[in-house]
Amino acid sequence: MIQTNPFAELATVISPVAMQAYIILMLLLVVGGTILDMLHKKSAQYFFENAKKAKKSAKRTVGVGEKGALAVKTIANEVLTSGEFANPRRRISHLFTMYGFILFVVTTATLIFAYPGTTEVPAMLPQLWHLGAAMLCFGGYWFWFFIRVDVSAEGHPWYRVVRADLFIVSLLTTATFALLWSGNQGSTIGWVFFALFIVSSTTLFGSVMWSKFAHMFFKPAAAFQKRVTKADGSRENLPADYDLTDPAVQAKFPDIPTYMGKVPPNMGLGIKREGSSHY
Ligand code: HEM
Repeated sequence: MIQTNPFAELATVISPVAMQAYIILMLLLVVGGTILDMLHKKSAQYFFENAKKAKKSAKRTVGVGEKGALAVKTIANEVLTSGEFANPRRRISHLFTMYGFILFVVTTATLIFAYPGTTEVPAMLPQLWHLGAAMLCFGGYWFWFFIRVDVSAEGHPWYRVVRADLFIVSLLTTATFALLWSGNQGSTIGWVFFALFIVSSTTLFGSVMWSKFAHMFFKPAAAFQKRVTKADGSRENLPADYDLTDPAVQAKFPDIPTYMGKVPPNMGLGIKREGSSHY
């Protein structure tokens, strides 16, 4: 099964041109949904106004070269290796979900546009298509059943679904029904899985305005801006990371030595001291 182009058999019923038109429609829905999302939430306006405000409270100017270096760091860290996740399980699950999705989307487009309706494809392509869907399922179901905050910290059962789950649920059903369709091609149940696959993928790509889909475009920009605010000293108006044993800091805040002694212990970030599990 994993060696076969799943879209080749489909071409006996649905023309490759119709498949290509569907992919283009999905692409347009993502672009349109992202633009509408930005206009509706005014997120781009907020982002640029906030960046302007940060510039005003900047302690130093960050040059073009330094900004380039920060962009490279953002790509290498936050974008390619999900470096924002402090929890290693969340990070690994996100990496599987993200690279699985990218593999699945790229191989789908390649099979449909470069090899329309033929079984004569490099064996690696269908293999990567199945691998991408399987990776997405692995990372996504791990997240759904064990990692997401609703379940792991807030004590909600795994089967509670709210609107905020639109993205993850449609991602998971798309990949799951794609695999089930591919494994059952030629049978009636195979067509049922195919119909569910199309309903899921149309929901995934058609609901960008209401789902978390567009985070894959916004998060890199936000991560880059966060690095800039650290480099220019504006720090989003957060206090500096003081060394409490520094006499200059103690002179500035005399209640520190009064209440904590001359050598206060570094207690780290309160938020990292204990996982939330008291619900
Ligand atoms: C192919 C692309 C991607 C996919 C399929 C994907 C998938 C996901 C999923 C399923 C979640 C959990 C959403 C939920 O809470 O329901 C998530 C969260 C997150 N993603 Fe992605 N992601 C992608 C790209 C990216 C990129 C490029 C970045 C960063 C540069 C990123 C950063 C994050 C962060 C920080 C969260 C946590 C958000 C939160 O808890 O509010 N993702 N992603």
